[in-house]
Amino acid sequence: MKLIARDRKLTFGSKDTIALFLTEEFKKEMGKQVPTELMFIREKTNMEHFRAKTGETLFVPLAGSPAFVLAGLGKKDELTRESLRNAGATVVEVCRKKKIKSISVIVPDLEKLPPSEAAVSIAEGLCLANYSFTRYKTRGEENNRAVEEALVFTSSHERVAPLLGEVEILCANTLLCRDLVNETSDRSNPVAVAQEAKKLARLKGVRCTVLGRQELEKMKMGLLSAVSRGSGYPPQLVVLKYAGNPRNKNWTAIVGKGITFDSGGLNLKPSGHIEDMRCDMAGASACLYAIKAAAELRLKKNIVAVLPLCENMLSRSSYRPGDVYVGYNGKSVEIGNTDAEGRLILADAVAFAEDRLKPARIIDIATLTGACLICFGEIIAGLLTPSEELAQALFTAGEETGDRLWRMPLYKEYNDDLKSDIADLSNVSSGRNAGTIIGGTFIKNFVKKTPWAHIDIAGTSWYSKPRGYRPKHATGYGVRLLIEAIRNLPD
Ligand code: BES
Ligand code: MG
Ligand code: ZN
Repeated sequence: MKLIARDRKLTFGSKDTIALFLTEEFKKEMGKQVPTELMFIREKTNMEHFRAKTGETLFVPLAGSPAFVLAGLGKKDELTRESLRNAGATVVEVCRKKKIKSISVIVPDLEKLPPSEAAVSIAEGLCLANYSFTRYKTRGEENNRAVEEALVFTSSHERVAPLLGEVEILCANTLLCRDLVNETSDRSNPVAVAQEAKKLARLKGVRCTVLGRQELEKMKMGLLSAVSRGSGYPPQLVVLKYAGNPRNKNWTAIVGKGITFDSGGLNLKPSGHIEDMRCDMAGASACLYAIKAAAELRLKKNIVAVLPLCENMLSRSSYRPGDVYVGYNGKSVEIGNTDAEGRLILADAVAFAEDRLKPARIIDIATLTGACLICFGEIIAGLLTPSEELAQALFTAGEETGDRLWRMPLYKEYNDDLKSDIADLSNVSSGRNAGTIIGGTFIKNFVKKTPWAHIDIAGTSWYSKPRGYRPKHATGYGVRLLIEAIRNLPD
C-alpha cells in the first residue's frame, strides 16, 4: 500500500472515503476535541449506536459528500501503539469489503501519543492488515481486494512523510516474508529460498553466497548435513550480507531456522501436527526480508543473515534416532529424536557464524519448540539470552513494534538434561519439561563467547486464526522486530 502524507488543512472531494478514529469519550468531547468532519456527519447521521468501542466500525455513505469510516479506539486511557495498529486494521477490513481503493485517514489528536507516533502506528496497521494469500484461488477473492493507497492527514505532514516511507518499506517486507512462508513447501523448498536470497544481491550493499551439499560436507557442517539426508533437496547455507556502515567493522549476525518442511523425520509427526509444517522456515524468511528492508532503508548498520535451509524428511537415507553426528565446532551429538532438528541446523549455523564472520553479536530466530506455544500461546515469542544488552534491546523493540517477546532463563543446570551416554550431547532431554529452555540451552553449547540471543517464534510466526492486523497463517513476525532491535543496538 502506498502511503502519502497530507496536510490536515486540505479539504476533501465528494468521492473520497475518509477514516476517522474516535475514542469512547468522543460524545462528551463534541465541539472541542473531535475533528470538524465529525460535527458534519453528526448532523446527517444517527450516531446513537456507535460507541467507539475497540474494534467497532461504522460505514457512513452520504449523498453528495465523502463517505466515512468511523473506527473505535476504545477508552482514551488505554490507548497504545498496538491498539492504533489494530484500529487501522479494522478500517482496511471495511475498505476491502467495499472495494475502496484509496482511503483518506485523519490522524486523531491524542493525549497519550505524539501525532507522528499515532500516524506511524495507524499506517502500520493499515499496511499490515492489507494482505491475503490468494495465489491458488482460481476465482480470485473479488470481495477482498487490496487497498492501493492511504492519504495520511496530519498537522505535521513534513515530519511524518519520511516516517511513512519507512513504514511502507518495513511493512511491504513483512508481507513478502508472509508470502514466502505461506507458499507451499513444494515451491518454498531449500533451493528456491536460496534463489530468493540471491536475488537480493542486486540491492546496494548486499552480497549473497550460497553453500551447497559438498561445500557443507567439506566444512564439516555435520548436523545440517545429517538433517537434510532424507530430503530430495540438497541443504543450502545462505550467507547474505548487507554492509550499511562500511567504515565500521562490527556486524550483527541474524541466524534463521530454515526447515522448509518439518515432517519430524523418522520420528514422524502425527496428523494434527504435520499439516502446517511449511511454517518451519519462518525464522529464515524473517531474516531474509530484514536484510532486504535494511538495504531499502539504507540503514547505517552491518548485518549478515545466515540461513541454514533444508527439509526434514523420511527416506532410507534419513538420519536415525541413535545416530551420532559431529557439528561444525567439533562437538558430537546423539540424535534422541529426529523431530528436534531445528536446534541441530542452528547449532551448525551459529558456530559457523561465530567462527567465520566474527560478528559482534548473534541473534537466532526459529520456530523451535511446540513447548513455546504451550507456554506463551501465539501472542508472544520466547527470548533466551545470557546478554543483558541483547535482552534489553530485543524486549524494547518488541514493545515498540508489537512483535513482542518475553525472556526465559538459561541456568546452567538445564545442561544436565542434555547428557548423552555415547556422545558429547543429546539433541533432546528425556522428558517433556521446560522444552523451550532445553532447546535454547542446546544451541548455547555451540556459541563460544559472542553475545547471543535466541528467539523462539513457534507460536507467533503462524496464527491459527486472524488477530488484529495479523492474518491467519504466516504473520511475518520478526522482520520489524529485528530492524528495530538492530537500530537501537550500538554499531
Ligand atoms: N518445528 C517444530 C516446532 C514447532 C511446533 C513449530 C509447532 C511450530 C509449531 C520443531 O522442529 C519440533 O518438532 N520440535 C519438537 C521438539 C521435541 C522433539 C523435543 C517439539 O516441539 O515437539
Ligand atoms: Mg521438528
Ligand atoms: Zn522444526
